[in-house]
Amino acid sequence: MGMQKRAGIIGVGSAVPNRVLTNHDLEKMVDTTDEWIRTMTGIEERRIADEGEATSDYAIRAGRKAIESAGLSPQDIDLIILATFTGDTPLPATACIVQNALGCKGTPAFDLAAGCSGFVYGLATADAFVRSGHYEHVLVIGADLLSRVTNWTDRSTCVLFGDGAGAAVVAPVDEDGGFMAFELGAEGSGAGVLCIPAGGSRHPYTPEDLAAHRDKIYMEGREVFKFAVKIQGEATERVVAKCGLSVEDIDLVVPHQANTRIIESAVNRLGLPMEKFYVNLQKYGNTSAASIPIALDEAVSEGKIKKGDIIVTVGFGAGLTWAAGVMKWVF
Ligand code: UT7
Repeated sequence: MGMQKRAGIIGVGSAVPNRVLTNHDLEKMVDTTDEWIRTMTGIEERRIADEGEATSDYAIRAGRKAIESAGLSPQDIDLIILATFTGDTPLPATACIVQNALGCKGTPAFDLAAGCSGFVYGLATADAFVRSGHYEHVLVIGADLLSRVTNWTDRSTCVLFGDGAGAAVVAPVDEDGGFMAFELGAEGSGAGVLCIPAGGSRHPYTPEDLAAHRDKIYMEGREVFKFAVKIQGEATERVVAKCGLSVEDIDLVVPHQANTRIIESAVNRLGLPMEKFYVNLQKYGNTSAASIPIALDEAVSEGKIKKGDIIVTVGFGAGLTWAAGVMKWVF
């Protein structure tokens, strides 16, 4: 009988490509303007991986930094969870590529598919494994190279996305700190509004699919927008209520970085000042599962997250899925 422990984040790290693609660059590629992109999304630039690079290249860098930040070595990691939908190849799990490169010999590793909510789903999974006593140190990574699944001829989606990776080490912490509650959800009736239509068992690729970009992200932006606006505020309210707190107790919300208008809607609903929301999407665009851990890492290094702070992470995305977590920061 293992004692119930508290689990929390003890280290974070991130890695993004050096190459910057600005809104002005996009003006030369599709019928858009810097003005439209800034006004409608808040995004100014995004990072794009070089040809020949893969998601694991960034997942490995972010993972290594998180392990160092936790004061551990790769041999200390007992489980690796990689949230991604842009793995290096369809098989095997990219988590295994990461495991080998980090030198975590024999450590179990798997990919987790929950779209942009994947990193917070991963934290909740790690929390359960650590509290049950199954594993001590779990490396949770969110990594996506959205540039690889972007239809660069579709102006309604190609201006939104970017590449990157972020990671956290989850481990037992003092009873007073760490994860306090999670709120995970899915609404599978919305599966079709944000998807990659071809390339799976339902519809393996045909040459016509490739010509029509059906191997790339298809998104009904309006529908996703409405869902995101509703669920972000609701999930935040529910998750803080679960641990007996109110929204006023939150020191910082680290939301999925998709669109400043979506974040502003949560600001209005929750009645919190904008300064309580960490925003860096102007620099990176929407990096899917990587967005929250990159933001967490930057908020920590900028001194915006301190020991004892109540932090809420909240994401939404393909599935449709959502995931929110409350934690008391421990370092
Ligand atoms: O991680 C989760 C993934 N997804 C998201 O978070 C995305 C959620 N959705 C959104 O952020 C918004 O829906 C968008 C930013 C994608 C679009 O904003 P919107 O308020 O839903 O605008 P819309 O799609 O209704 O488009 C408004 C107009 C349209 O023109 P008409 O029909 O009014 O003449 C579009 O054709 O804007 C046009 N438009 C563009 N114009 C210039 C669409 N994309 C562009 C563009 N540049 N890049």
